[in-house]
Amino acid sequence: MIGEKSNIGLPDTEGEIGYWIGVPFWGQGLIPEAVRELIRHAFVDLRLQSLWCGYFEGNEKSKRAQEKCGFTYHHTEKDIHWKLMNDIRTEHITRLTRQEWKRRMETRTLVGDGLKQ
Ligand SMILES: CC(C)(COP(=O)(O)OP(=O)(O)OC[C@H]1O[C@@H](n2cnc3c(N)ncnc32)[C@H](O)[C@@H]1OP(=O)(O)O)[C@@H](O)C(=O)NCCC(=O)NCCS
Repeated sequence: MIGEKSNIGLPDTEGEIGYWIGVPFWGQGLIPEAVRELIRHAFVDLRLQSLWCGYFEGNEKSKRAQEKCGFTYHHTEKDIHWKLMNDIRTEHITRLTRQEWKRRMETRTLVGDGLKQ
């Protein structure tokens, strides 16, 4: 979701990625694989400057999926009302900048398959 279509009020040069996958498909690295392609599309084809992601407090699987894609912790939004679930949640927001991603890609080229980081 780019710019004002995002949940977190981004400028048009930035985007937010969200995801879910059905339980039978968990643990096969499918979300990181899909997110990596979205990241490539966002930075290479769409020329975005930053990408944002987030996970609710306690969702370690989602946190890990983001780490594996290169997102790092940025800030926490406490006690937000989540309309979709009519619930109060704390969300940790992560970010990957274009520069960070480029550096990551260069490192991968040098050391081989860095996808497991
Ligand atoms: C979070 C989610 C998107 C991860 O997608 P995925 O394709 O399973 O991602 P991965 O296979 O890379 O797994 C990520 C981590 O989750 C953990 N994990 C995955 N499946 C697991 C399972 N069945 N049991 C325990 N841990 C599991 C592992 O720690 C894994 O990290 P590792 O590869 O370093 O061991 C998926 O579990 C999901 O859709 N969950 C429900 C919806 C949701 O939480 N969406 C995110 C909203 S922010």
